[in-house]
Amino acid sequence: MPNHPPKNLTVATTGASGAIFLRHFLLAVDADKRVETVNFIASDSALRVMAEELDLKGRSDVLRQTLGAAASRKFQIQSNADIGANVASGSYPADAMVVIPCSVGTLARIANGVAAQLVERAADVSLKEKRPLVLCVRETPLNKIHIRNMYRAADAGATIFPLIPAFYYRPASLDEMAREFAYRVLAHLGLPQPEAFRWKD
Ligand SMILES: Cc1cc2nc3c(=O)[nH]c(=O)nc-3n(C[C@H](O)[C@H](O)[C@H](O)COP(=O)(O)O)c2cc1C
Repeated sequence: MPNHPPKNLTVATTGASGAIFLRHFLLAVDADKRVETVNFIASDSALRVMAEELDLKGRSDVLRQTLGAAASRKFQIQSNADIGANVASGSYPADAMVVIPCSVGTLARIANGVAAQLVERAADVSLKEKRPLVLCVRETPLNKIHIRNMYRAADAGATIFPLIPAFYYRPASLDEMAREFAYRVLAHLGLPQPEAFRWKD
């Protein structure tokens, strides 16, 4: 993981369950002044699941609907269809990328170099440029294809960060659980959060 906190993050979201984890990740990134730029990409299936889990209405203003009107200007929405977007090129100075939640379909495409849409292309670029790539994979149970693809992606340099929350801090709500998970991902990327639960702190 990087020696310096990443300033330029790519946050992608795909059609796996767990949109509440995305929401808390984006809220924490929004509030973190160390992060200056966020390129946000949502797959079509992500929007479908967000409609289900976050009551998203339609496909416009996704960030405002997810974060509220106060979402900062550091966010740039990129279309998943736009393989000419900034993050599609290694020459663009992205520091790190997170896919949260990451479907096993997207995992499969990343693990096998199928870079037809922007989420997978940006992930492919992260791996070739040796930049941190965190995949918050969610599926259960896992078949051998999923497990092989997790191995392949990890072998290529990605961090498999399954969407599995901890319970030892006794979360009182789903929001608290998702927030602590988001904090763990951010700490892994070199952005530790002062309010995060710390064991025996
Ligand atoms: C409500 C809902 C929940 C889903 N949950 C998951 C899931 O947890 N994990 C997963 O891999 N796919 C899940 N899927 C299926 C994916 O959305 C589907 O495979 C899709 O093609 C993934 O596309 P994407 O990888 O381009 O986002 C879910 C679909 C729906 C509608």
